[in-house]
Amino acid sequence: MQRQLEPELMEDPQQVKAYAQADFEQAHNGFIMRVKSMVGGHFDGVALDLGCGAGDISRRFARVYPDSQVHAVDGSAAMLAYAQELAHAAPSEPVRFILGRLPTVILPQSAYDIIFSNSLLHHLPDPQILWQTVKRYASVGTQIFIMDLVRPDSVATAKQLVSCYAHNEPAILQRDFYHSLLAAFSYEEIIGQLAAADLALDVVQISDRHVFISGVMA
Ligand SMILES: C[S@@+](CC[C@H](N)C(=O)[O-])C[C@H]1O[C@@H](n2cnc3c(N)ncnc32)[C@H](O)[C@@H]1O
Repeated sequence: MQRQLEPELMEDPQQVKAYAQADFEQAHNGFIMRVKSMVGGHFDGVALDLGCGAGDISRRFARVYPDSQVHAVDGSAAMLAYAQELAHAAPSEPVRFILGRLPTVILPQSAYDIIFSNSLLHHLPDPQILWQTVKRYASVGTQIFIMDLVRPDSVATAKQLVSCYAHNEPAILQRDFYHSLLAAFSYEEIIGQLAAADLALDVVQISDRHVFISGVMA
């Protein structure tokens, strides 16, 4: 099945509200647990979250690593408004939210100790926007963790995944999930993107719809 692009930034107010209020406990906690299994129990460096959305994973990371700093960037002002609001309600999870669009955003640091991202890759018309940003803000030893959807083989499989995993969600979230599945990359495409970017990262399909990409910058 051919990739079908979806809008890059999430700026529609109803879409943003539905996403910010959705329950992503299983996927987001799973992401953080996977990161923790590789980073260990203590981290006091600076982490970068690319395409942070409403900041749920940024804040989960800050809770697990209270001695760390998190810089979280997103190109959607509407998403960041939710992120700031949720962050004000939980001041013990300090995250610095930055409005900016990859690849042109200029971040506060030239390099980060950890770079992570969830569900940004499939939004990008050109996947190298992510991989080149990772390279730009990584230095030797930076740990990289990226999770995203994998494009199913057919529209029928995409519809099955929506009814299996999102049947209890509001219609707008079901629609977004469907479009995101069609916009996602295949496992083989991601392998090709990393080779083109000269990034030696591990790529593992961790479920029927998710791929996890990780490694340490050489
Ligand atoms: C599906 S959301 C994921 C949000 C968050 N990472 C999470 O897991 O909940 C994708 C986010 O990427 C943002 N985004 C898309 N393209 C971007 C770009 N070029 N630069 C910065 N943010 C971008 C969108 O605005 C949206 O908030």
